[in-house]
Amino acid sequence: MIQKIKELLEQTESFTISSLDELEQFRLKYLSKKGEIAQLFADFKNVPAELKKEVGFEINRLKQKAQEKYDQLKESFEETSASSDGSDLTRPGEPLELGSRHPISLVRNEIISIFNRLGFTVAEGPEIEDDWHVFTALNFPPEHPARDMQDTFFIDKENEIVLRTHTSSVQVRVMENTQPPIRSIFPGRVFRNEAISARAHCIFHQVEGLYVAENVSFADLKQTLLYFAKEMFGEKTQIRLRPSYFPFTEPSAELDVSCSICGGKGCNVCKYTGWLEILGCGMVDPNVLERCGIDNEKYTGFAFGMGIERIAMLKYQVKDLRLYFENDIRFLQQFKSAY
Ligand code: DAH
Repeated sequence: MIQKIKELLEQTESFTISSLDELEQFRLKYLSKKGEIAQLFADFKNVPAELKKEVGFEINRLKQKAQEKYDQLKESFEETSASSDGSDLTRPGEPLELGSRHPISLVRNEIISIFNRLGFTVAEGPEIEDDWHVFTALNFPPEHPARDMQDTFFIDKENEIVLRTHTSSVQVRVMENTQPPIRSIFPGRVFRNEAISARAHCIFHQVEGLYVAENVSFADLKQTLLYFAKEMFGEKTQIRLRPSYFPFTEPSAELDVSCSICGGKGCNVCKYTGWLEILGCGMVDPNVLERCGIDNEKYTGFAFGMGIERIAMLKYQVKDLRLYFENDIRFLQQFKSAY
């Protein structure tokens, strides 16, 4: 028995661990109620009386040593897994909750992706603009009401520096800097001096589109917009073009899509007309081409412009524009998508 105790003493002393599991194995093997040491105590009754003193002493010593070893292994393991400042580096991290994209970003990205498939590239321009790029180059007459401070935010009235009221200004910049063929869209933020309500805001987002090349026709415009409408609102969507007026397009039109809520039957979203207006468009006025340095004998083009908030309102049935700007997490959390 003395021999057995000696062996166990050696075993426990040379025991090493590399995980908490192994520490537990140590405890089970030597220190638990069914472990080796408990077994020795059980066998102790068979030890001849004259040896009891010596054997008892050795068993108790083994038990004490094994317990010390266990405590020491435990402590050293905890020390290595804790960093020097006391924080536990083995602790699982706090899970990072995935956020969701803002509905305006979702719709903007979807619009970009649809037009990318038709070969449109993306360009951007400055939000602070001069009169030329926002109005004059786009054929706005000098007395046009948009040039009034009532409608436009002026940064510098004397030098006619404004916050752009539409992304059509990027058309001008792109045409001034590139010769056709041009096929691009221009997403961005625009500013108008409007009182904030459920249906109007002083800051909002638009996407402008421009295609200038040889032989671009109104039929190309119509087909492009039909493709867009079907991709955005569903395969069954129909479109109609109503004559309209913009200084920078001739002819000009407004595009309606069949109401995606009632399928054209009439509901309160489409005000029982079956149609929803989504954008303005037209053939780029030859005057605009000329002002931007493009040969208007050789090239023609079409342009269109839409409000992202408007499309998002129709797509997600948002009734109040202000929700887009309030950053209420209960609103924002409802938008999860691939874009
Ligand atoms: N710029 C116009 C607006 O802000 C929208 C627009 C209409 C853009 C017709 C166009 C267009 O390019 O052809 O209301």
